[in-house]
Amino acid sequence: MLKGKKILLGVSGSISAYKSAYIVRELIKAGAEVKVLMTSASLSFISPLTLATLSKNAVIHSFTHGDNGEWNNHVKLGFWADLMLIAPATANTIAKMANGICDNVLMATYLSARCPVMFAPAMDHDMYLHPAVQYNINLLEKRGNIKINPDKGDLASGIIGEGRLKEPEEIVKIINDFFSKKVNSPLKNKTVLITAGPTYEAIDPVRFIGNHSSGKMGYAIAQSCAERGANVILISGPVNQSVSHPNIKRIDVISAEDMFNTVEKFKSSYDIAILSAAVADYTPEISFKQKIKKKEAGDEILLKLKSTKDILGFLGKEKNNGQILVGFALETHNEKENALNKLNNKNLDMIVLNSLNDKGAGFKNDTNKITILDKNNNCIEFELKSKQAVAEDILNHVETLL
Ligand code: CTP
Repeated sequence: MLKGKKILLGVSGSISAYKSAYIVRELIKAGAEVKVLMTSASLSFISPLTLATLSKNAVIHSFTHGDNGEWNNHVKLGFWADLMLIAPATANTIAKMANGICDNVLMATYLSARCPVMFAPAMDHDMYLHPAVQYNINLLEKRGNIKINPDKGDLASGIIGEGRLKEPEEIVKIINDFFSKKVNSPLKNKTVLITAGPTYEAIDPVRFIGNHSSGKMGYAIAQSCAERGANVILISGPVNQSVSHPNIKRIDVISAEDMFNTVEKFKSSYDIAILSAAVADYTPEISFKQKIKKKEAGDEILLKLKSTKDILGFLGKEKNNGQILVGFALETHNEKENALNKLNNKNLDMIVLNSLNDKGAGFKNDTNKITILDKNNNCIEFELKSKQAVAEDILNHVETLL
């Protein structure tokens, strides 16, 4: 799985930095291309010459190189990589990652990288368990960075505890599994239709009825689908999100009607549809062509709303054999019962329930807490996780239905 994979290894200043030589050796043996970035602290623990020789590439440890101070292009490096691995990741580097501190070339590259990032903490037991370090680690995981748990055992301080850098062979196995899951996904070459974000229902040219959906969940699902090799059609309401994968075709829409009309065009061509958009259920019966003026409208305005078309319900009715349809349910009470009703009434294969009663779930947050219910009567509750990790859980379950 690692053959031809481009891996950026960031090494920070821990006694376990010597293990980075073994990580590079294992990655190269498995056919990966490796470029190494080092912090200045790590130079005290292992020589760049060792890592340059093993990786067959110059090691980068400052913003410039050569007599003329040529720039080490960290942005280009970030684009180059399929994966960035920071191992060992010290408490200091983790804190910088969590806070966006850019005082070395490793951090500049981390902040520019668009690829998945893994980090393997390595430090003393008490440092690792300190609330500040745990807080930073949680923050990174919530943002979608993948933590490689440290081992328990003898530490350089003489203490026995948690904080040993995971063994290089195991780190390389985790990376291999990560790529293998993506390469062997049943979603590969499938067409996945996704709706995301809110819809805006115009009252007049300057005002609308909308909602707080950020689109983060739908965009995370689109990204994970694309990484698993699917061709994604992402129909997006107005959001402040961007896509960076070539397999994602994004179509922007504004209103529930636009979204319905766009989805309708793909009703027979999708293999899997995941409808995560927070579509307005009602829209103004009349959308005024000119701005409503206070003077003319007076003290009170009555807005008459009519219902919009239920896109999910429509796809459920039109579903062909073999098409998989996934809906979302955002509930505030009788959550499971309401979600099950939606699953059955709308002819869905699976529904993702989030409850507004769960802290950190639903709109706007970077995290979500979901329960998956499916047509085979499965009901699986998940922990609060980053929306990227939730997207992986959703797609893992979709794969079981294929
Ligand atoms: N949905 C849709 N079209 C609509 C309204 C909702 O496709 N006009 C989809 C959403 O994308 C989501 C699912 O339907 O996948 C559930 O949305 P939700 O608003 O929770 O359910 P409703 O069916 O609108 O029921 P209610 O508002 O009564 O809970």
